[in-house]
Amino acid sequence: MASDSAGFALSSRARRTQRQPISYLMAQAVENPDVISLAAGLVDADTLPAREAFALLEPMLCTRPSARAALQYGTTQGLLSLREKVLAHMAALDGLAPGDLAGTPDDVVIATGSQQLLFILADVLIDPGDVVITGWPSYFVFTGTLEAAGAHVRCVDIDEDGLVPESLERVLGTLKAEGLLPRVRMLYTVSYHQNPTGITLAEDRRGTIVDIIRRYSTDHRILIVEDAAYRELTFEGRPPRSMVRHDPEGRHVALLQTFSKTFAPGLKVGYGLLPHGLVEPVLLQKGNHDFGSANLCQHLVLAAMESGAYARHVEALCRHYTAKRDATLEALREHLGCLAGVRWTHPSGGLYVFLTLPEGLATHTGGPLFARALEEGVLYVPGEYCYPPDPTRTIPENTIRLCYGVCSIEQIRAGVAALARAVRAVM
Ligand SMILES: Cc1ncc(COP(=O)(O)O)c(C=O)c1O
Repeated sequence: MASDSAGFALSSRARRTQRQPISYLMAQAVENPDVISLAAGLVDADTLPAREAFALLEPMLCTRPSARAALQYGTTQGLLSLREKVLAHMAALDGLAPGDLAGTPDDVVIATGSQQLLFILADVLIDPGDVVITGWPSYFVFTGTLEAAGAHVRCVDIDEDGLVPESLERVLGTLKAEGLLPRVRMLYTVSYHQNPTGITLAEDRRGTIVDIIRRYSTDHRILIVEDAAYRELTFEGRPPRSMVRHDPEGRHVALLQTFSKTFAPGLKVGYGLLPHGLVEPVLLQKGNHDFGSANLCQHLVLAAMESGAYARHVEALCRHYTAKRDATLEALREHLGCLAGVRWTHPSGGLYVFLTLPEGLATHTGGPLFARALEEGVLYVPGEYCYPPDPTRTIPENTIRLCYGVCSIEQIRAGVAALARAVRAVM
């Protein structure tokens, strides 16, 4: 942080960069090892595909040509065969053949996690003072990225069907009236089982949202970043098709996915299908970052996809997390169901449930509820972290993000019971 720079003259970007709020919670979890963490947004360590990874790596590294290919530097854009594979995969998730999507493997970039692509997209599109539109609430790590880039954030309401098109129209109308439309660079949305709410953007809103963005793209193309990190962790029903389906010419939508949630976050392999014209500037920046993501990791996820191990793993994960989601919702019903003014989301996938407590019950880390919850043995993410700094809105103080990713079902039950005790105690 700037205050620790010991006399160095930090850049304006470094001075704009704040410590991620989650680091305080991580420290709390380390200092209180007996506390049940419903805060950490991590995948379940018991599900990590160690055996599968070993079975795929062993023959790869025992054969000279494949070992050389995997251990040598790769390319900035990423392994061509992996780009072909993930393009076919994205198309299949949309019920299409690869050729039916607007993009080709040349429009796909493999990155060091989808976070790197988010960062680079912000880097190539945003100057300080430019405007980015996000959901209210939104994924807080990317909010940090936007703040560091100097973006001004305006937010759009989210209901149980995701971004509300009328709210987007209102926000863009206001920005236009303020003369800020030329500075609007991006709409960012986590469109499946959103982090932090678990809410999915409904199929029938997707085309409308793309149309609104297209209509307001009078001065330049506004980019829609569809962050689909949790897309494949869908527990029931058919997930909606991606927003690229509504952008047949590949002009507005960047679709970002990752192997972090569906295979192994330790590999940090993410990928994106980018609209025409953005690949080149993104690759120029990526060239400066790392001139290519870890090649061994790319070979490993490719082998996992080709062998069928990836598809089997995703299926098993969905069964595993369905039980945890159900345990979370059941425990919330049992322990908080009869408290007036308490409500929560009902995700059909992903790792998160978003809880709203009665008005006036503040959830922040300095408040009595957070302290009491720690005493009772449970840690949560105060929802206020998830609301970007939109100057036109007031951040609600009574929300909580719960993640059922890391905890066992027993811990989830005990953690929600402890949270309910804390809520009753401070109400
Ligand atoms: C919504 C969302 N997008 C992107 C990421 C980044 O994941 P990775 O960089 O590991 O692909 C995360 C990680 O938690 C996330 O929740």
